Amino acid sequence: AITRHYEFNITMQKVTRLCHTKSIVTVNGQFPGPRVVAREGDRLVIKVTNHVSNNITIHWHGIRQLRSGWADGPAYITQCPIQTGQSYVYNFTVVGQRGTLWWHAHVSWLRATLYGPLIILPKKNVPYPFAKPYKEVPIIFGEWFKADTEAIISQALQTGGGPNVSDAYTINGLPGPLYNCSTKDTYKLRVKPGKTYLLRVINAALNDELFFSIANHTLTVVDVDAIYIKPFETETILITPGQTSNILLKTKPNFPNANFLMKARPYVTGQGTFDNSTVAGILEYESPFLNSVISMKKLPLHKPTLPSLNDTVFAANFAKKLRSLATPQFPANVPRKVDKKFFFTIGLGTNPCDQNQTCQGPNGTKFAASVNNISFVQPTTALLQAHYTGQSSGVYRPDFPVNPFHRFNYTGNAPNNTNVGNGTKLMVLNFNASVELVLQDTSILGAESHPLHLHGFNFFVVGQGFGNYDSNKDPKKFNLVDPVERNTVGVPSGGWVAIRFFADNPGVWFMHCHLEVHTSWGLKMAWLVLDGKLPNQKLLPPPSDLPKC
Ligand code: C2O
Repeated sequence: AITRHYEFNITMQKVTRLCHTKSIVTVNGQFPGPRVVAREGDRLVIKVTNHVSNNITIHWHGIRQLRSGWADGPAYITQCPIQTGQSYVYNFTVVGQRGTLWWHAHVSWLRATLYGPLIILPKKNVPYPFAKPYKEVPIIFGEWFKADTEAIISQALQTGGGPNVSDAYTINGLPGPLYNCSTKDTYKLRVKPGKTYLLRVINAALNDELFFSIANHTLTVVDVDAIYIKPFETETILITPGQTSNILLKTKPNFPNANFLMKARPYVTGQGTFDNSTVAGILEYESPFLNSVISMKKLPLHKPTLPSLNDTVFAANFAKKLRSLATPQFPANVPRKVDKKFFFTIGLGTNPCDQNQTCQGPNGTKFAASVNNISFVQPTTALLQAHYTGQSSGVYRPDFPVNPFHRFNYTGNAPNNTNVGNGTKLMVLNFNASVELVLQDTSILGAESHPLHLHGFNFFVVGQGFGNYDSNKDPKKFNLVDPVERNTVGVPSGGWVAIRFFADNPGVWFMHCHLEVHTSWGLKMAWLVLDGKLPNQKLLPPPSDLPKC
């Protein structure tokens, strides 16, 4: 294993999309941002210097950060932001993971333009559990807003409703030919016939789960969230914001005399306004005969068909196909006995509205979102520091509820009062506790699928279903043999998922919906995992350059 150094200079950069130029926050002027590459076991040392007027933090999404929570990145959870003119060095080791992860800003909505791939190769001389691909290609989905990102977030917080309508989805930063004024900004993947390509797919979109398909080509899913799975074939994949997946694409054995469109479009089950447009890119075969661009253009273009916008059946079936390898080399270390059981309801609700705001929630309220009826209030100092220095009083309370306060029919009629409570509450766990967490979607303001992301851990998705979770019947059907292991799971619209994990990582760990608008409305909470007894079970001391609030 080696140490790899990177420099991230946060700078403004003018970028034109859809015939509209705006200044965006970037890393080293690149959009999407630079690739970070490491092998399993390597140490990454990434110096981030802030040259813009916004506060900055960077999160290494999916990296376990064993005992190194100081490098995790969510603003006011594990660190204070890096202020203008300051630097901070993120220093961590990549343990037990190989595949594709990603990095993104974790403050305000800056991840709209600040994101890039984090590629983890296997240890030297360790092969993939599938044939070595001819080439590896990142495919990153994003969302492009003509408006300024800060304007969008303040609109989301003031009014709720409407603001998360982007102007385009993008593949590797490019919206593609189905948008006005965008044909020249089309992602093209040039391939040779008869080869296998490894697509490293990342959903960096702010607010939408996406279907993705390539016309006339079958995709083989081999890995999700940097964990190998049992390979399976599919025409279409479904990927939520925060999730990543490695996918094999076998090209046709001979030059096909055609080009093929690849498309991504959202999977949406909630009501309201959203962007249901389509990003397209082109899969183009290198021709053995003609090399002129003109003649390539004359080839017919095949188009894929994607599932319908609210195809919950596809979503449920796709989720069922994801299974851990569960081999001696790649075991599924699923907790069989459970020390702590939690039942969290997640969903949308409302908050009373201040006067002089235009509030679009029911009865003059503004939208809120909550976990167990608590809408998380972001503190003004970092939780991890408050915990480490023993100064938690006035910052957070360690009294997050094990169950929701009021039980009701979560997938039936909404209760009369849709208002939620507010607070900065943490759930405390002992070191290495085995945890079972059931996440129940509520239909208080419409059933909606929520991609729940847990920092600091991978978890096993042991069960899922529609309707209300039944604690007598449903656990009997849990898969404790080869459940998929990941860091972000789509909690089904009008349904539930059950996850299990070992709390083997001391620190403060954020858990939130990876739809940015829901995070802003409060669909988030944090876990506090206490130190174990042994020296190697304790949170490391903070680095000396840790930013101050
Ligand atoms: Cu990808 Cu808390 O984030």
